This record gives sequence, structure tokens and C-alpha cells, in this order.
Amino acid sequence: MLEVVILAAGQGTRMKSKLPKVLHPVCGRSMLGYSVLRAQEMGAQKIVVVTGHGAEKVEQAFAGSGVVFARQDKQLGTAHAFLQAVPHLSGDSDVLVLYGDTPLIRLETLQNMQQAHQSSGAGMTVLTAELPDATGYGRIVRGTDGTVERIVEEKAASAQEKQIREFNSGVYIFNAKGLELVSKIGLSQPANEYYLTDILELYRQDGATVEAFKIQDASELSGSNDRVQLAEADLVMRRRINEQHMRGGVTLVDPESTYIEDTVKIGRDTLIEPGVLLKGETVIGEDVRIGAYSVVQDSLVQDGVTIKSHTVLEGAEVHSGADAGPFARLRPGAVLEKDVHVGNFVEVKNARMLEGAKAGHLSYLGDATVGREVNVGAGTITANYNGIDKNQTVIGDGAFIGSNSVLVAPIAVGKGAMIAAGSVVTQEVPDGALGVARGRQRNIEDFARRFWEQNADKVSKKHAVLHAWLQEQQVKNS
Ligand code: UD1
Ligand code: CA
Repeated sequence: MLEVVILAAGQGTRMKSKLPKVLHPVCGRSMLGYSVLRAQEMGAQKIVVVTGHGAEKVEQAFAGSGVVFARQDKQLGTAHAFLQAVPHLSGDSDVLVLYGDTPLIRLETLQNMQQAHQSSGAGMTVLTAELPDATGYGRIVRGTDGTVERIVEEKAASAQEKQIREFNSGVYIFNAKGLELVSKIGLSQPANEYYLTDILELYRQDGATVEAFKIQDASELSGSNDRVQLAEADLVMRRRINEQHMRGGVTLVDPESTYIEDTVKIGRDTLIEPGVLLKGETVIGEDVRIGAYSVVQDSLVQDGVTIKSHTVLEGAEVHSGADAGPFARLRPGAVLEKDVHVGNFVEVKNARMLEGAKAGHLSYLGDATVGREVNVGAGTITANYNGIDKNQTVIGDGAFIGSNSVLVAPIAVGKGAMIAAGSVVTQEVPDGALGVARGRQRNIEDFARRFWEQNADKVSKKHAVLHAWLQEQQVKNS
């Protein structure tokens, strides 16, 4: 049995932000979100998050996620923070302590640490690593035989202790005895805080051993206190995520310029070109191609889809064999069914394009159903908004919409119907009919020629080809 306490009450002044520090995202997931996720992955029976600064916002962000909150009204130190969580703990299981601002700790590390803790029989295990210069961290003080004796904080460390390279990550696993021991921790000077690190010596006085679980990669343990460190964490996380996808069978042409959030899933043999952003609850299938500089957020892209460069998807669904872009925009509620084609400068919003429908160029399709194999000509617009309400356009299967048409919703175009190019359609077009809604063409013979001839001087200067043609006509007629 394992219970997890996540300390997240600290202020994070250096972020200089209205947003509580632990809510700042790293590759799309909040820092606290990683700690909660790791706790869940560890199979925690209970997860207690200690909140303080920005508590309302933090609690709101994690409401319904299954965690329990313990408020720490005054930040009197890490031991005091832990103490707030104690009433929520069962008192008969091991406790893992995490921070809300160290998103880079790997699940594997925590699992290995837990295993080491269990097999050593220690009362407490501390996660540590070494840095050439561990300034700022609590240092691990070991006896001559190598046993862990205590942790000394930077502020209290002697010159000699400051040379110690092994530092305390702040991640611990201890047995249920810790719930009792923590209440015995007194105020530490000169900080005048209750230090959770003091629990180590209490365990030893109680006759238990304390072990350090030392890992090689110290960067896993680094917290993000300002925006520079946040960007560093983002970079580490991004590389990690990208590597995981590549090892899983996804081709990233330029991993350094590819941004994939932690929440995104991608199938095998999918190829992602440079500069792509994949965000939120996005799921991408197998054999998909995502073109350079495209952005895909909260969208479903099925197997075999091609998204061409500079295309933006948000809350969209693209089914197998469909393609979109370059420069297409699929907004929330856009559904492109199988084999649909959407080309450049086409915007689709809250509209379903049924199997095989095509809109190749320069269109707005909003609040619409576009039937199977419909051809939407270049420049077609669904006029869905009358200034107050949004209205629906329904286009029947196999219809052909001529270029530069405006379909003024609410409107229905029948199956197999045609719309003449340049029409402004305001009335229903029945199945199989041709809707023409534009001025009739009339040609005025020689009108243009006379105009050119009347301006012969200017034409000769500006329009060489036209001038030559007019001369030719004169020769013929003379
Ligand atoms: C702490 C450790 C130090 C370790 C370092 C690793 C103590 C006394 N020291 O130091 O040995 O090397 O972490 O980063 O524990 N928090 C609260 N309430 C409080 C104080 C802190 O919730 O009253 C939370 C913070 O939000 C943060 C974590 O506890 O997530 C650590 O607090 P911080 O002030 O950063 O501890 P350090 O002084 O860095
Ligand atoms: Ca810190």
C-alpha cells in the first residue's frame, strides 16, 4: 500500500505570475499534473495535495481528479506542510512525498526507489543525486561507513558540508511511523521553519535505518522556479516525449522543432514534418502525414490521413483517407469523413463533410452538412450568421456547387442538384435542379474596342500588345 503527499503550497515568487507556480505547464501538462500522474501510476491508494499559495486556483484545476486537498494557511516549512496532510492518511501504509514543481522525475525512478526501499527494510529512503555544485539544496551527510546520517540545509551547512555534492531531492518514501515522527520536528534556525528533512534523524533515534537512493541523472530532480527553468524543463520533457514517439515507430523529421504535448497519442509509421505542434487531447492514427508548421489541438486524425503544411486543426475529426491543406483551418466540430478533400484556404467549422466530399479552394463551410461526393467550388461561402443566430446549410449527396456561390442559411440544396457559379442562393433547391441566382450576361458588341480606339494615345504608351492588335485590325479593315 502506498499513499502520496504532494507539497505544493509554496509561493513561487520568481515566476512573476498570476498563475500559481505549480499550475505552469511543461509540454502541455501542469507541473503539479505530472506529480499527480506519477502518483497515480505508482498505484497510490490516496493522493493528498498540500495547497497554500493560490490554493483556490490549484484546487479548482484538480477538482474531480481524485486527489484530496489539505490546506496549509501559513508556509512554515516542509514538515509543517506534511503535517497538514497527516489527518488524511491511513496511518498503516508507506508514504511517498513529492513536490508539485519537479515534473521531470520519471516513473521508473520512483518505482526503483520503492523497490529499493522495500528490500532494504529501511524506515525511510531519500531520493538523491550528485551535482558538481549543489548550492541551494540540502546536502546528504554520510558517516565514515557511508550510512546516511542527516540532511543539512544550505543555510545551516558548514564550509565543509557545502562541498558535499550529493543533495536531497525532497522525494522520500517512509513507513507509517513517519506520521508520528513528523509531529516531533521542532523549529529550525536560522530559517525559523519546520524542516521535513529533520525526520531523518528522528528515524535513526527510533532505531530505524535511513537509505539514500541515488540516481545518475540529476536533471530529473530539478525544480522549475522561474520561467527560464520552466523553459529548460520543457526542453528536457519535449526531447523525452519525442524520443518516446520515435522509439514507438513515429518518424519525426526534425525532433528539435517538433512540439508534442504529453497528452498526445500517435500511431506507427506516422511521419511528422518540421515545426509541427501537437497539443491537448489529440489522437493521431497510423500512416498519417502531418505537414510542416501545422498545429493540431484536441483533434482526432485517423489512419492514413494527410495533413498538408500550415494547416490548423482544433477540435476537429479527420477520418481515414481524408486530406486537408495546405493552409486549411478545421475548427471545433469540423468532421471530415472518409476520403474527404479539403484544400487551401478552406475553413470548416461545426460542419460535417460526408464521405468523398471535396472543397478544394477558398471556402467557408460553417454549421453545415455537406453530402457525399459533393463538389464545393472555389470561393463557396455558407452565410451561416444573420447577426443573431447561426443557421444550418444542408447540401444533398452528389450536389455540385459552382464557384463563388453564397448559400444563405437556413438553406437546403437537394441531392444531385447544381448551383450555377456566382449564385446567391436564398431558396431551397430541389433534388436534381439547377439553381441560378445571378444577373444574366449580355454582350455589348464593340463597346470595348471603341473605348480603346478613343484612347489610342494612351493605349500606345501603356499596352503594347493591345496597341499592336488594334493596329492589325485597322490594317485588315482598310
Ligand atoms: C527542500 C529541502 C531540501 C531539498 C530541496 C529540494 C527541506 C527543509 N529542505 O528545500 O533539503 O534539497 O527541497 O528541492 O525540506 N512547501 C510547502 N509548504 C511550505 C514550504 C514548502 O508546501 O511551508 C513546498 C513547496 O511548494 C515546494 C516544496 O515544498 O514544492 C519544497 O519547498 P522549498 O521551499 O522549495 O524547499 P527548499 O528550501 O528548496
Ligand atoms: Ca526549492
